[in-house]
Amino acid sequence: MEMLSTAENDLEKAAAALVKGCLVAFPTETVYGLGADAFNRSVLARIFEAKGRPRFDPLIIHIATLETLWKIADESLLDRTTAERLSILSERLWPGPLTLILQKRKEVPDLATSALATAAIRFPSHPVAQKLIRLSTGAIAAPSANLFGRLSPTRASHVKAQLGDKVDYIIDGGKTQVGVESTVLDLSHGVPRVLRQGGTELEKIEALIGPVEVSCASPSDAPLSPGQLKSHYAPRTPLILCKNGELDAIPYAPGEGRLYFSHSEGVEIIAERARVLSETGYVTEAAANLFDYLHELDSLGLEFIRAEEAPGCGLGEAINDRLRRAASKSM
Ligand code: TXA
Ligand code: MG
Repeated sequence: MEMLSTAENDLEKAAAALVKGCLVAFPTETVYGLGADAFNRSVLARIFEAKGRPRFDPLIIHIATLETLWKIADESLLDRTTAERLSILSERLWPGPLTLILQKRKEVPDLATSALATAAIRFPSHPVAQKLIRLSTGAIAAPSANLFGRLSPTRASHVKAQLGDKVDYIIDGGKTQVGVESTVLDLSHGVPRVLRQGGTELEKIEALIGPVEVSCASPSDAPLSPGQLKSHYAPRTPLILCKNGELDAIPYAPGEGRLYFSHSEGVEIIAERARVLSETGYVTEAAANLFDYLHELDSLGLEFIRAEEAPGCGLGEAINDRLRRAASKSM
């Protein structure tokens, strides 16, 4: 494995490696992705091996021009309403942390889509991701660059620690900005359905295309679609969840670490084993720090972590979804 910078010549090197069929981890605005040419079957198989990910969990294909969308999605299968929704969403929210599920073209390898009739497509806004995709094959399949079920990486060091020599290159673009994965929206049939809450707020989507269904399986349900597995995004340290605002009143137990959303004035924060997602109670800032702080707390050798839910507005639901899944491993 070789670490690369975001300098021009390093990106050219990484792009050439992608063309040759290598695995390249790269920063996006949400989390780091583990990238491979979406049309190269043998390297796609390596993604699943490297992550220990079951083959039934399909990948997101990343693009960096709108025209490339039609190499993956089948335009002839779009009805008028879907075409209109797609046009509005792609114009207003792409590039950005939104993944759209559409009927796929038959040329798209089954390995990328777990043999579904649909494909997940995302146009990331991170300039490094865009450049890498454009300089390589134009369509890069990339799950989050973590071991299956574990915390998503928001820094190159997280990728190195979890995947190490299973990847060929890691591009270090610093800490990611959004901090939670993209929102996954299914446009492939009927009423649009959110399958995963993430970096694009529901309110933003509904303001553009009207009401959407939300069918993110709760951690206690059976998954409704691949990837909605109940134990996910989990630190190795057991995690216990409590309601927003409850943490302030609970005394620290020995060996306990804490993840505050925010905290009331005067509450003692033990700096060595507590983190505050947002001092000002701002959900967007909290999302950006979520995985980063969980990685930090997880490295401290604590007995357990007590985490507080975020308020349910904006990116708060995306944060809470990840916290619930992290906690469900511990139950
Ligand atoms: O922000 C992100 O989306 C990051 C960065 C790297 O772009 N990627 C990411 O990928 O989170 P991954 O593989 O960790 O999550 C992809 C999710 C999974 O829950 C998967 O089941 C779902 O998208 N998915 C992919 N294709 C699908 C399809 N055709 N139908 C339904 N769900 C699909
Ligand atoms: Mg993931």
